Amino acid sequence: MVIKTAEFVESNSVWNKCPKHGKAEYAFIGRSNVGKSSLINRMTGRKDLAKTSSKPGKTLLINHFIINSDWYLVDLPGYGYAKISKDGRDKLEKMIKGYVMSREELVNLFVLVDSRLEPQKIDLEFIEFLGINGVPFSIVFTKADKQTKTKTNVNVEAFKEKLKEQWEELPPIFVTSSETGDGCDELLNYIDSLNIMLKEQNN
Ligand code: GTP
Ligand code: MG
Repeated sequence: MVIKTAEFVESNSVWNKCPKHGKAEYAFIGRSNVGKSSLINRMTGRKDLAKTSSKPGKTLLINHFIINSDWYLVDLPGYGYAKISKDGRDKLEKMIKGYVMSREELVNLFVLVDSRLEPQKIDLEFIEFLGINGVPFSIVFTKADKQTKTKTNVNVEAFKEKLKEQWEELPPIFVTSSETGDGCDELLNYIDSLNIMLKEQNN
């Protein structure tokens, strides 16, 4: 898929204040600092579309971006951000879970996982929560440029093994780097295929 236009629409703190557009949207979630905003920038080819930072806790609202005037990308705050008050953390968790559970426009949630790490409890627990609530998701490994392919594969395989303990069928899995752009075409093609399928269903 070719990205012709990508524009920021608005930021919100609650899912039910988000734009009511009736179009497909795809959101990015994962631990704080995993690379959600960077991947949105790389996929759209717009360096500063979503705000990024080397410090965790940069994205603190639900951010909508409209792509090709046709569908939306959504940048969410990360989970597991430690340097924040308990109140702040509870508020973020409510914001994320409210959006994920209630947003009708959400077609697929991309759960970003750091490819450098062994399976982390916090990610597996979040995925379990998605399963309980029937939220469609895919797994996106990030920062693959930071180590060898072999090391990435070891961590991806270990993650798959953990998923198999809970799931009969594995979700789509992507390996990406915002530094090199690896995996971005695959993600965009996947979104394209879902958009086409939805349009066919609605006709
Ligand atoms: P929060 O908004 O705080 O939840 O973080 P985020 O998940 O949006 O992460 P963000 O995109 O802001 O990236 C965090 C840091 O990781 C930044 O310093 C990025 O430059 C870096 N980063 C993100 N993706 C990659 C990647 O694929 N490769 C490398 N080398 N660095 C990356
Ligand atoms: Mg961010």
